[in-house]
Amino acid sequence: MEKRIVVLLGSPRKKGNSAKLAEYLSKGAKSKEAKVESFYLNGMNIKPCQGCRRCQKENAKGCVIKDDMQILYPKLKEADAVVIASPIYWFNISAQTKLFIDRCYAIGVGERNTFPGKRFAFLLSYADADPFSSGAVNALRSFQDMCNYLGAEVVGMVYGSGDEPGEIEKNRGLMKQAYRLGCQLAG
Ligand SMILES: Cc1cc2nc3c(=O)[nH]c(=O)nc-3n(C[C@H](O)[C@H](O)[C@H](O)COP(=O)(O)O)c2cc1C
Repeated sequence: MEKRIVVLLGSPRKKGNSAKLAEYLSKGAKSKEAKVESFYLNGMNIKPCQGCRRCQKENAKGCVIKDDMQILYPKLKEADAVVIASPIYWFNISAQTKLFIDRCYAIGVGERNTFPGKRFAFLLSYADADPFSSGAVNALRSFQDMCNYLGAEVVGMVYGSGDEPGEIEKNRGLMKQAYRLGCQLAG
C-alpha cells in the first residue's frame, strides 16, 4: 500500500535550502509511489502553545486552540512518516518549526509513546561549515529527544551547509542522500 508522508517546511524561504532538501526527499518518496503532502508552516496560522495543559486532561479532545494546527493533527496521525525541514536560526531550529513542535504536545494525552512506530526524518540547512559550530547538532539532539518522547522512530537526518536560497543543491552528494531517505521512507 502507498505510504503517506507529511512534510513540514520550517523556513520562511519557499525556495530555500531546507526546502530544497525536502524537494529531493519528496522526489525520492514519490519515485516509490508514496503520497507526499507538504505544509509551509510560515504561511499557516499556528499560535504558540499556551501551556494550559487542557490537552493532557482525561477525555481531552486535543488542543483547544482553534488554528491551523487543527489541519495538521489529523494529517500527522494518519501519516506513515513525518518529515521536518528547518533552517538553523541562532544555533537551533527556526521559530516556525518550534511553534509546530510545541503544539505536538497535544498529540498525546498525559502519556509518552503516543506515536509508536511512526517514522520521522529531519532535514537541516545552515550557513556555517560544520554541524557543530552552526548549531545543527543542537537541533538534531532536540529531534532525537522529541522522537524518544513520542516513541517514534528516527529513520534519518540529512543536513548540510548553504546560505543563498537553493545554494545547497550544488552539493550533489547531499541531494542524493535526501532522495534516498525519501525512498527509504516510502519503503
Ligand atoms: C535569523 C537567522 C539566523 C541564522 N542563524 C544561523 C546559525 O545560528 N548558524 C548557522 O550556521 N546559520 C545560521 N543562519 C543561516 C541559515 O541557517 C542558512 O542561510 C540556511 O541555509 C537557511 O535555510 P533556508 O534557505 O531553508 O531558509 C541564520 C540565518 C538567519 C536568517
